[in-house]
Amino acid sequence: MKLGRRELLGVGVASTATIALAACAAEPEVTQSESETTSAQPTTPSGDLLLGPASEVMVGSGNKYKIDEMLTILVTQPKAGEYRGFSATCTHSGCIVQGVRDGEIACGCHGARFDQETGAVISGPAKTALGRITIELRGEDLFAIL
Ligand code: FES
Repeated sequence: MKLGRRELLGVGVASTATIALAACAAEPEVTQSESETTSAQPTTPSGDLLLGPASEVMVGSGNKYKIDEMLTILVTQPKAGEYRGFSATCTHSGCIVQGVRDGEIACGCHGARFDQETGAVISGPAKTALGRITIELRGEDLFAIL
């Protein structure tokens, strides 16, 4: 499963909508100006995002990059020079996975394991693969393509 911008931001948009609805119910007299409405929108990471030097991701291991409150990216290097990117949010209950342990992506909350090359579930309780994110190596640096 590869995540697009809409899927990556879906939770944030839903949360923002919930907060906005709760605010409207509590204070029906409040109005927002155009600028307030614009500033309340979630920021959207998009395009080519510099993560850092490729040397931070060892072969057979992984490194996490917290982009914002809604997105943490896990980059793995299952084979020398081959980088894979995933949403680090576990598909079971939303914990941030710990990283690569014993060759598998491990979630510490309830013990799910994922393939570090594909993100596929190796063992539950998660039933769905981690979301894929395209990673590119440019020179010495890794970029996420969102
Ligand atoms: S949240 Fe990851 S195994 Fe439950």
